[in-house]
Amino acid sequence: MPVTLVVGGQWGDEGKAKIIDYLARDSDYVVRYAGGANAGHTVVVDGARFAFHLVPSGILYPHATCVLGGGMVIDPIALANEIDGVKKKGIDVDGRIFVSDQAHVVFPYHIEMDAGTETRLGSSSIGTTRRGIAPAYVDKVGRKGVRMGDLLRPRAEVEQLFSKKFREKNKELKSLGLETLPVQESVERLLRARKKIQPLITDTRVILWSALEQKRKILCEGAQGTLLDVDHGTYPYVTSSSSSAGGAVAGAGLPPSSLERVIGIFKAYCTRVGNGPFPTEDKRRMGDKLRELGGEYGTTTGRPRRCGWFDAVAARTVVKLNGITEVAITKLDVLDSFDEIKICTSYRCGRRRLDYFPTNVRSLERCKPEYEVVKGWKKKTNSGGKPRLPRKAAAYVRYLEKLMGCRVHLVSLGPDRKAMVKLS
Ligand code: GDP
Ligand code: IMO
Ligand code: MG
Repeated sequence: MPVTLVVGGQWGDEGKAKIIDYLARDSDYVVRYAGGANAGHTVVVDGARFAFHLVPSGILYPHATCVLGGGMVIDPIALANEIDGVKKKGIDVDGRIFVSDQAHVVFPYHIEMDAGTETRLGSSSIGTTRRGIAPAYVDKVGRKGVRMGDLLRPRAEVEQLFSKKFREKNKELKSLGLETLPVQESVERLLRARKKIQPLITDTRVILWSALEQKRKILCEGAQGTLLDVDHGTYPYVTSSSSSAGGAVAGAGLPPSSLERVIGIFKAYCTRVGNGPFPTEDKRRMGDKLRELGGEYGTTTGRPRRCGWFDAVAARTVVKLNGITEVAITKLDVLDSFDEIKICTSYRCGRRRLDYFPTNVRSLERCKPEYEVVKGWKKKTNSGGKPRLPRKAAAYVRYLEKLMGCRVHLVSLGPDRKAMVKLS
């Protein structure tokens, strides 16, 4: 069955979009299945930078049809703006974007609640992207949400529904000591966005099922990363969706048996944005060096990313959990100038040695990473021509492969589409 899934192997921002862009060249459909505008996916083509939040990164290829799946939470205003921005860059989107009628709507009050809760929590906050993600998923599982399909009802009905929701939620905002929203103005803004995206809303499952029957190639674009998954991540410092492989089939509306390849994306080191445990974080000079050389600042919020070393314990767990069939390593070029590179190969937890990532943050906080240090290659892996791996860089990749227990098929050596090496 021709479905390939690209899933983040760490805490997001692994360079998924760069790999999606590489694979989308040969794909007919590119499908987002989870999350919302908390994602920030960057693609660089001949020096031009594109950042996507809701629209699948495959939009850059004219032959690709893009689907926003039912597992997503979608801010209609953000989506309408993003599509306008994509069009302004000269990309033809006509008939190429479909939005699942099962996806849930992110309202401005969700964004207020997210931001208000975070501010109130202060130093014990999650460090969310403040895009309204958790409050929207709370309404979804609490069976109080509005789905994109509801936007297809007659205008008067939608207006009534929106007004009712805003009035109810204003009471909730007030009880939380947060600013209320002007009902009429907010509803009108949403109705303007609805007008733009209404033609895109449909039952996207049948589109994908028919694609499967015709043996067309489907690429699922993961957002966030496995360590941010609501079940398998560092709970409660996670996002509110199932960002791992399990969530892909449910969120896209595809049968589990349709998955053929599961490609795990891992940076050659580790980053995290927001709060929560990060065993291999380097808060000193090396972490700063990784941040500066890697340009580690969030695509969505611009926040500096926390940086540290490759965590093979977490990676091994992520490979098992997702059934990863092949790995892509990104940003190897960032390590070009390091004399020594550290790799966490196991955790010491009191007298115990852990080979797998624990399921709860209290255990994780007690774990001390054990490192191996390897010599750097001290050569440019990408100096503009055909990218190639120096011997020691190839040995680093082969070592990661051994530690993770999975083949590495792609190595990315720069932000640009062309900076990629395929390993046999
Ligand atoms: P995503 O959320 O997983 O798609 O990743 P982001 O786009 O948020 O962050 C990855 C960042 O690294 C972006 O700025 C990319 O342009 C950049 N990037 C991707 N691959 C490489 C690479 O191999 N080397 C370097 N130096 N940058 C890369
Ligand atoms: P992409 O798709 C990195 C993090 C936030 C925060 C936590 C919860 O670009 O890899 P949320 O707004 O989802 O409620 O925030 O999850 N987070 C991400 N970190 N990349 C992302 O997406 C992220 N999406 C959410 O920083 O710690
Ligand atoms: Mg990102």
